Amino acid sequence: MAVGQEITGAELNEKFQALDMPAVYSPAECDRMAEMIVEIEALKKEHNAAILAHNYQRPEIYQVADFIGDSLELAKRGRDLEEDIIVFCGVHFMAESAKILAPEKTVLLPDMRAGCSLADSVDPDSLVERRDELKKVYPDLVVAAYVNTTAAVKAVVDVCVTSSNAVKVVEGLDSDHILFVPDEHLASYVQKETSKTIISWDGNCYVHHQITPENILSVKEGIPNLKVLVHPECRSDVVDLADAVLSTSGMVRYAKESEADEFLIVTECGLSDKLILEVPEKKFYKACKLCQYMKMITLEATLESLRTMRHEIELDEDVRAAAEKSLLRMFELS
Ligand code: 13P
Ligand code: SF4
Repeated sequence: MAVGQEITGAELNEKFQALDMPAVYSPAECDRMAEMIVEIEALKKEHNAAILAHNYQRPEIYQVADFIGDSLELAKRGRDLEEDIIVFCGVHFMAESAKILAPEKTVLLPDMRAGCSLADSVDPDSLVERRDELKKVYPDLVVAAYVNTTAAVKAVVDVCVTSSNAVKVVEGLDSDHILFVPDEHLASYVQKETSKTIISWDGNCYVHHQITPENILSVKEGIPNLKVLVHPECRSDVVDLADAVLSTSGMVRYAKESEADEFLIVTECGLSDKLILEVPEKKFYKACKLCQYMKMITLEATLESLRTMRHEIELDEDVRAAAEKSLLRMFELS
């Protein structure tokens, strides 16, 4: 964790080079990007396509996005779009959610390497095995999955949740015993907010899991009015230091509406950049942790995706329909 100006140039260069991301947007680089942006806009019109982008995307991706949001907002927006093609600038499970909810549309993910460490931590077979074991002890058991899961996992659970509605959905379930997968930290946050029994899985997000209470305290020291906004994928000892626990878009709304003017944004780095762009009159300190998966999506890959219609998300219809039920149940309860 570092206050923006405390990150050394060398550190930044190292991180950004590893991600093929320019540490400095040179005039030549900006000219090249501007040309790509013009071409992407033209291809969107030609193919009747829309671009949906997650809040953690690179700033240049914001320039071509028709909508930018958190997981819940993106899932809903994909369903309601009029365009035939969705280019999803986010990670694989998010593009799958768009396809689950809008099967008639072509959904493209510009780079198939854009995965998620949380989604990788649970597979349907192990989940069904664990569920069946637990059902012997708790016959009323319900399985809730964070949306950061594959379609195959969503297809075998009872309901989905996102970072913005997890507590509300769990509270609305007709059961006192919930197997909650795959994020152990989100599960422990939900457990603090409900009297139901939450049985968690052994998964976490490698980005948020790296952040420690010491990181927060070292920034807080000397800034008395600092508001600490924490994503619920963080460790519970980090969540305990929060003024508010919010989804990525929840943090944007909070920062805009709050009377405070200094915030520590405890989530992936890209969100602080979005806040600096959207709320320039306030000051944001950031947890400089990058999600390598989110940053796989570049302007080049997005342009190529629109030129060649790659990489299409395809789902087996049985899996899609079963996964859709879990997502629709979430919409009903939230
Ligand atoms: P949000 O739904 O809050 O945007 O979170 C998605 C995510 O992957 C956070 O790491
Ligand atoms: Fe997955 Fe973490 Fe990246 Fe979000 S930040 S997409 S949870 S790896």
